[in-house]
Amino acid sequence: MTNPERASKIVAIASGKGGVGKTLLAANLAIAMAEEKKRVLVFDADLSLANLDVLLGITPSHSIRQVVNRTKTLEEVIVQGPGGFSLIPASSGVASLADLPREALSEIVQGLSKLASQYDVMLIDVPAGIGRNALKFCRMADQMVVLTTPEPTSFTDAYALVKLLRARQPCPSMRLVVNMAEDAREADRIAEAFSNVSKRFLHTELPLAGALNFDPSIPVAVRRQRPFYITHPSSAAAQQLRGLARYLLSPNEGELPGAGHHNRITKWLDSWCAEDGVSRA
Ligand SMILES: Nc1ncnc2c1ncn2[C@@H]1O[C@H](COP(=O)(O)OP(=O)(O)O)[C@@H](O)[C@H]1O
Ligand SMILES: [Mg+2]
Repeated sequence: MTNPERASKIVAIASGKGGVGKTLLAANLAIAMAEEKKRVLVFDADLSLANLDVLLGITPSHSIRQVVNRTKTLEEVIVQGPGGFSLIPASSGVASLADLPREALSEIVQGLSKLASQYDVMLIDVPAGIGRNALKFCRMADQMVVLTTPEPTSFTDAYALVKLLRARQPCPSMRLVVNMAEDAREADRIAEAFSNVSKRFLHTELPLAGALNFDPSIPVAVRRQRPFYITHPSSAAAQQLRGLARYLLSPNEGELPGAGHHNRITKWLDSWCAEDGVSRA
């Protein structure tokens, strides 16, 4: 459901449960995507508990708080993150932002959609839980990365989020990412189990977009407020992340297999008709 009027893509990173790696993934994925020469904007949608700036070791002077108060525009609060991506920071400890009134939330969503057209990709670090903010930021995306770890608590919360989102349109196309598995076998096992339950009970395909295995150097990098993608660029985790970034950036990604196939046929028919000067209408 990528909007044909803009070339950019909005990807929401969500999980239901907190502490499963959304912020870590958003920050490092942004750097990996910038490395692929993409213009990347990251939005810290955990509006009242800012984490991205802390994880990156930067101290922004302004945040989404000034945008909500109308003293700054979204463009004016953008800061540069390491590796060359742009960030809209959240605020910290402002309870009113955790559950914004509907109108204020819609205004932010509209502003972000407009701003996204100046970038190749916008990543949204969605807050944990199934609150209004979280669901709204998921629904504004073209694609959603549903993050789970092998822990059953994370698995069930991710499933609950998918179930809620599926119940109403617009619903982004969804891809699963397994974080903190011991190895590829465990990640595949979790992905298969998730896919089976979502197919059976929600009639939803949730293909695996990639995995990020547990890597002890990641918490060390977090404590130093340095992205592991920069501190350990040739680690297995960085390679997994590079693969995930490329997968999410690939042009046909975001289309379900059936729709992709249909689009390819339509494109082929269009070029065939154009060559012969035939109208296909
Ligand atoms: N693949 C991983 N390997 C090891 N530790 C990880 C991994 N992913 C995340 N972590 C740890 O989990 C912590 C919580 O991640 P975070 O991105 O803040 O979660 P969330 O945004 O979902 O609440 C990180 O600070 C990091 O130490
Ligand atoms: Mg977070």
